[in-house]
Amino acid sequence: MDRSFKIALSLFALLVGTLFAVEVFSLPKVTPELKTEAQEYYNNECKACHRWARKFAAPPMKDNVAQYAENPEEMVRYLMHPTPKHPEIWPPMEITPLTENQAKMMTAWLLYILENPEDPGRPK
Ligand code: HEC
Repeated sequence: MDRSFKIALSLFALLVGTLFAVEVFSLPKVTPELKTEAQEYYNNECKACHRWARKFAAPPMKDNVAQYAENPEEMVRYLMHPTPKHPEIWPPMEITPLTENQAKMMTAWLLYILENPEDPGRPK
């Protein structure tokens, strides 16, 4: 095989590999159905420790979410694998880790609530 052809072929293979390796991150759309499901999940799994705007058994959810406004992917990761963030102030968050779908749903909804605090579904 001609050398430049081989090089071209390897470059092509590399390009295709890269395209498939880079999975584009996206959050689900906040539909009325998602809102209902996320709110129910929150009431069952998050409300025991978190309040929206004040400290409770955990930091205020509003501040938690605001930290991730520019980086929702990181919030999804945190909810799937909670690791200690402020060991001097707070105990680690001990919850059943969320699945990827649950974490994306909660992140999409909580960011939506952060931007739309007048939403009647906003947690207390
Ligand atoms: C058992 C109590 C408890 C429950 C239930 C709980 N959390 Fe937390 N959460 C905490 C504590 C404590 C922290 C602070 C942890 C730290 O700073 O390491 C925290 C922190 C967070 C943070 C901020 C992490 C950071 O980077 O500072 C987010 C986001 C969060 N929780 C989301 C949730 C969501 C969503 C749910 C429901 C699925 C939930 N939490 C349920 C106790 C809880």
